Order: sequence, then structure tokens, then C-alpha cells
Amino acid sequence: MSFVAVATPPTLRSRLLDGATLPAWWYSDPEVLRLEHERIFNRSWQYAGPAEQASAPGSFFTCRAGATPIVVVRDRSGELRAFVNVCRHRGHEVAQGCGQRETLQCPYHAWTYDLDGSLRAAPRSEREATFDRADLGLRPVLVDTWGPLVFVNPDGDAPPLGDVLRDLPRETAERGLELVGLVYRGRSREQIIDANWKIVVENFLECYHCPVAHKSFSRLIDVDPDAYTLSTARWTSSQYGPPQAGDDLPYDPAGDMRTSQFHFIWPNWTLNVLPGAAHVRVIVFQPLDADRTASFVDGFWAPETPDETIEKITSFGAEVGAEDRELVESVHRGLRSGAIDHGRLLLGSEKLIQHFQLLVYDALDEDSSPRTDDPRPTRI
Ligand code: FES
Ligand SMILES: [Fe+2]
Repeated sequence: MSFVAVATPPTLRSRLLDGATLPAWWYSDPEVLRLEHERIFNRSWQYAGPAEQASAPGSFFTCRAGATPIVVVRDRSGELRAFVNVCRHRGHEVAQGCGQRETLQCPYHAWTYDLDGSLRAAPRSEREATFDRADLGLRPVLVDTWGPLVFVNPDGDAPPLGDVLRDLPRETAERGLELVGLVYRGRSREQIIDANWKIVVENFLECYHCPVAHKSFSRLIDVDPDAYTLSTARWTSSQYGPPQAGDDLPYDPAGDMRTSQFHFIWPNWTLNVLPGAAHVRVIVFQPLDADRTASFVDGFWAPETPDETIEKITSFGAEVGAEDRELVESVHRGLRSGAIDHGRLLLGSEKLIQHFQLLVYDALDEDSSPRTDDPRPTRI
């Protein structure tokens, strides 16, 4: 008896495990981004902003979770709340920017919401026989904090923020980064990057490019693979790099932060610590469309940190960020060209990218979690 063995083509997931990257077309296809909004950003905890902007009753700030406009507000009883910032009348954004108000009033037709989200007044609604204000409050979303940082999740059934962070607060604290007690000192580098959000995240997740593309960063931090450590947890990944010794450093790194720390938290926000004064810079990457990513940096510093210290480290970070922007925009053009189907990772140095890509794959492929041998085509 004879038979012919038919090889099952490797699945995308198994190819990711072997070091292939996600298909190149996933980085510019609007349908992939639509699924990412539906299955990632509509369901995940995302950085909203500094808690101090919603500290007093009536104070609020606006932000986005994926494509969803959000308003975070401190209500009259002192409870922190967050709502979808979309008017139940015809969809205007209710609140703009940040500030302090007795109520949240939509600027289009003056529907007015209480700080608990309930609709308090709608001009001329008393002339309508069937108008029921009780049904027309702002839609609540989950909100939580970690020290001075606020997070929101559009999915009301999502597990708590702590299930995403897990051991990260303890691990950062063990390395000298205690978020509680840091003070917000402003937002910088608000920019639009001409690259898909996943390319921007993946660039954050490896320092293989540092000796080549970040000369001054590599003078400050030892980026040798034997010194620069990488680790992953369920929803987070971390990079730790010791400072270099010598007279040739781009700035004086004396201070409580002895080592650099770069943490990625699913799906799109990061904690960045450079050697020097106690601080953390939160850098966020938000998809605008399949080809563009909005980014900003929020700085939190130990109280009393001198302005010049903040300026020195912030501008050093901006210099590195400008180098990264050129890199990721070039990668976007390359992948968008269709010239290659996949990239190939060096897992010794780029395993955090693999970790991220598996999270993306599993989020988009709703049936994949219990099965790893699914022969579905790579197109989703
Ligand atoms: S859209 Fe808000 S009041 Fe009309
Ligand atoms: Fe970089």
C-alpha cells in the first residue's frame, strides 16, 4: 500500500512563532484597521490622561479610546467617571478640551448632561409627547487610575485594569519607579506620524536599531544585547538598559532613576524612563487611519524637579523620537509598496515584536485562542 502525504500549509500563527512578521498588507488595509477598532480598541484599557485634570468636582478632560471620543469627569460626589463624549441628540462631541463645569452642555443644541451622565435638560423637549430623558444619558465607560494616570475602557464588561498590568507596578517600583507621587508637568510632541500604528509600536519594542539609528541614545544607554534585557508578560513587555559610563554622555544622568525602563502595555501605550530625576513619560500611539498614527508624550515628574532638568530629558527624548519617526515612516512606505509579503524577525533581539504580533493576531482571529493549528488563510 502506498500513500502520498499531503503537507498542511503552515498557519499564520505558526509562522509568527517561527519568526515571520504579520503580512505586510495588514499595515495599510482599512479593513484590518476596522477589525482592530472593533476587536482591540473597543475592548482594551487605554491611557486617557493625567488625573489632576479631573481632580476637583466638575473638572473634566477629553480624550480618545481608539476612535471613540471620551470625556473623563469628577462628579459632585467626588467619584471619577468617564463617558462616551457623543451627544445622544445627533452626535456632536459634548465636551471640548479640558476645564471645570457644573454640567456638560453640548454646544450644538444645548442638551445638558449632569456630571453623572444623565440628561438634565433638552430645549423644547417638553413639547414632545414621547420624549424620555431617562433613556438619553451619556453612555458610561470603565475608568480607573494608576497613580496620577487615568485609563478608560469602552467595554463595560472588560476585566479590570489590574488584570492587564498584573506585576508591572511591582516590577517598576522594584526598579525605583513609583508612579504614586509623580506630578503632571505637561504634554509634548503631539504629532501625526505617517505610519500604521503597529509599525510605530513595533519600533518601540526593539532596540536592535539603536546602535545604528540612535547614536546619542546608544552613548547614554548600553544597548549591547548582553546588557539590554527584554521580558514579556501576558499583556505587557519591558526593556531595561543600564546607563553607559564615561565622559561622552549626552546629558548628566545623575538622579534616582539609575536605569532606563521602557514598558509597552497592550494595545498602544508605553511608560518611558531615562536615567536621571524620578519621572515617567507616557507615550501613546493612536491609529487615525490605516496610514497615520497620532502620538503624544505626557510627562510626570517628582515634585520640585527643576524645569531645566525636565527640559534636558524631554528634549533628549524628542531627539530620539524624531529619529524613530523617520524610521517608521520609511517602513510604512516599504510595507505599503507590496514589495515583500512578510518580514523576518531576529527573535533574540526582537521577541517583544513577536509577542505583540501574537496579541494582534489572537485579537483579530476571534476563534484562534483555543486552537493553534487552524488552517485558515492569512487573509482575515
Ligand atoms: S447634537 Fe448635541 S444638542 Fe444637538
Ligand atoms: Fe528607536
